[in-house]
Parts: sequence; C-alpha cells; structure tokens
Amino acid sequence: MAMMRLRREDPRVVGAFRLHRRLGAGGMGVVYLGSDRRGQRVALKVIRPDLSEDQEFRSRFAREVSAARRIRGGCTARLVAADLEASRPWFATQYVPGPSLHDRVLEHGQLSAAETAAVGAALAEGLVAVHEAGVVHRDLKPSNILLSPKGPRIIDFGIAWSTGASTLTHVGTAVGSPGFLAPEQVRGQGVTPASDVFSLGATLAYAALGDSPFGQGSSEVMLYRVVHEEPQLDGVPSALAPLLRTCLAKSPEERPSTMQLSLRLKEIAAREARGVPQPTRRQRVAVSAAERPPAPAVADAPAGAGERGAAAGERAGRRRPRPPAQARRRPTGSAARRAADQRLLRQRVFVFVTVTLLVTLGISLAQGCQGPL
Ligand SMILES: Nc1ncnc2c1ncn2[C@@H]1O[C@H](COP(=O)(O)OP(=O)(O)O)[C@@H](O)[C@H]1O
Ligand SMILES: [Mg+2]
Repeated sequence: MAMMRLRREDPRVVGAFRLHRRLGAGGMGVVYLGSDRRGQRVALKVIRPDLSEDQEFRSRFAREVSAARRIRGGCTARLVAADLEASRPWFATQYVPGPSLHDRVLEHGQLSAAETAAVGAALAEGLVAVHEAGVVHRDLKPSNILLSPKGPRIIDFGIAWSTGASTLTHVGTAVGSPGFLAPEQVRGQGVTPASDVFSLGATLAYAALGDSPFGQGSSEVMLYRVVHEEPQLDGVPSALAPLLRTCLAKSPEERPSTMQLSLRLKEIAAREARGVPQPTRRQRVAVSAAERPPAPAVADAPAGAGERGAAAGERAGRRRPRPPAQARRRPTGSAARRAADQRLLRQRVFVFVTVTLLVTLGISLAQGCQGPL
C-alpha cells in the first residue's frame, strides 16, 4: 500500500493521535496513518469539510459509528476512537498491516480456488457479525479488504452513505468501482444484508479472475451491466462458480445468506486445499484415513451445485488415488526387517538343535563302541 507524505494543509495532530502519512483520500475524506503515545498505530479518517457541515450526514454518521462499535469478532478493523462533535468529525481504526485484496491481485495475479474460498469464508463469517450489529457495509470491494497476516479484514464501512439517486451519483464517482454495487443499490432501492452478499460475490469473482465479473468501462456502462447483464464467470474455478453466481443473482431473495455462504465456502476451501498442490506422503495417509465421499449438496446450494461439488470431490479423489488394499497392507521397512530377523533366528535354532542332536548321537555311538563286548 502506497503511503504519501503529509501535505501542507493536513493536520499534524488529531485527538490523541500524531499523524505521520496519508494512506488514502476517498469519498468521505482523507485517511491518515497515526499513532498514540503508546505507539499504537491507527488509520484515522477525517471527514470532508462539506460533509462535516451537513447535519443529516453528521447524525447518520454518529448512528452508524455507534453501530460499528457493536460489531463482534475480528473481521473488521476495530474502532479505536472517534470524535463526532469535532468541526471535522473523525474516527480512528486499528491499523491493519497488509495489502488490500485489490493490490494483492494487481501485483501477484489472481488467487487460487482454495485461497479465494478461504478469504471468502472469513469475509462471509465477518459479514454475519456485521449484520448482527445492524450494519450493512454497502461498499464491499477488493480495495476495502485488507489481507492481514491473521486473515482478511473489512474496512471502509459506507458508514454514512444514504440510499437514493443523489448518493448513487456520489458513490459512483467517489467509489469509482461500481462493478461491485448490488443492482438494488444502483436502482436506489432498499439496501439490505443481501446487497453485501452481492458485493462479496463480485469481490470473490475478482479475486479468482483478476478482473471484475462485469468487466471494465465507464461508471454508466458498469452500472448498466450490474443491473441488466449476467456476470462473466468464465475462468472462475468450477468449485466456486455456481456459488458465486447465486451471490450475484439480480434478485436479493435468491442470494444465499452470509451464514450459508460462509459454511459452503469453508467446505470448498477445505476440499480445494486438500486437492492442490500435490499432497505430501503424510497428507496422503491422512486423506485416505479420512472419509472422502463426495460432499452432499447443502440446502442453499444452487441446482446442480451439489453435482458439481461431487465432481470436484471426485477430481480431488483422482488427484490423490487411494492406495489399493494390498499396497496398504504391505509391511513398512522396519516391519520387513523384523520379519527377516525372525526368519534368521528360526534358521539358527534349527541348525543349533540339529548339530546338538548329531553330537549327542556321535557321543552315544562312541560310548557304545567302547563298551564291554
Ligand atoms: N485500518 C486500516 N489499516 C490500514 N490501512 C488502512 C486502514 N483503513 C484504511 N486504510 C488505508 O487507507 C485507504 C483508504 O481508506 P478507506 O477507509 O478505504 O477510505 P476511502 O476508500 O474512502 O479513501 C485504504 O485503501 C487503505 O490503504
Ligand atoms: Mg475504500
């Protein structure tokens, strides 16, 4: 992540935090890298002056910051401090080390099926906690996901975005990635947790493809495609494509819940991780010991997903052929050595007994010859 020097007009201190660098500048304001006296690093976002003067924005912002405080678990960058009454409201979240998903894909190419599913499972689980706190993210996309060493973290909650056409224009220009907005957001209709599921589907498709499933183009073109066209998922691994397609359903009711999504992605991540790369010998033993029937289709899976899941399971099975029973019974190196030792021992006992008998017989014969005639 590129950090930029502070500009002349940037504050040097906000609340208890000293500011060091600019991390980014977006629709709501500027984000700075800061630290407190104890050295705790934060990402501190200072709201734009024009939004700061908007009373409706301020009260919505206050409501949503208090909702963000209620989010449980470690899926988001934790809120550290905020001042909603300041002339320019600000809030600070724990600094997350690691690139955004966007930068990661840009620099190193798309993620594998296993990586995509693992990141997706963690994000879906994170969204369960977000939605339980009564918050809808509204702006989930690759640049708003940071890949920390401890797992992906969701940042940049569309904390104060309102729904409605005026905001849409604002989001369209400010966010700059309309290929990740749900159709109902584009239409200015109600935003619900299902809208985040759509955005997560588009984000995971981006991770697996290295491109948005709605391609590239001007904001207008992208928004049109999101509402009217089917996503392009050619090239998305077959284990993931059917599930991502349901996330990208135009109708929010047809999308899976975040809980269903998380479970399904965990399943896919586990299966794919076992399939790639070539497992070591120890893993092969573990795999053959584990039960490996094709995964059953779960209730939320789209029609055909179960079959595809089974096919993926079979493929995984083919990659790791179970050794034939005979081979599995074949003694290992040390067992073979033990068997050879026992054979040698038996031979020695046999020779010893035979020699002893012969010597005894010989002595008896000799004594017999010497006896009185
Ligand atoms: N908690 C954080 N930890 C580390 N970097 C962050 C954090 N929050 C934001 N950033 C950085 O600042 C950039 C902009 O922040 P973001 O909240 O996405 O605002 P916006 O997209 O509105 O500019 C992000 O892309 C990221 O590089
Ligand atoms: Mg952002």
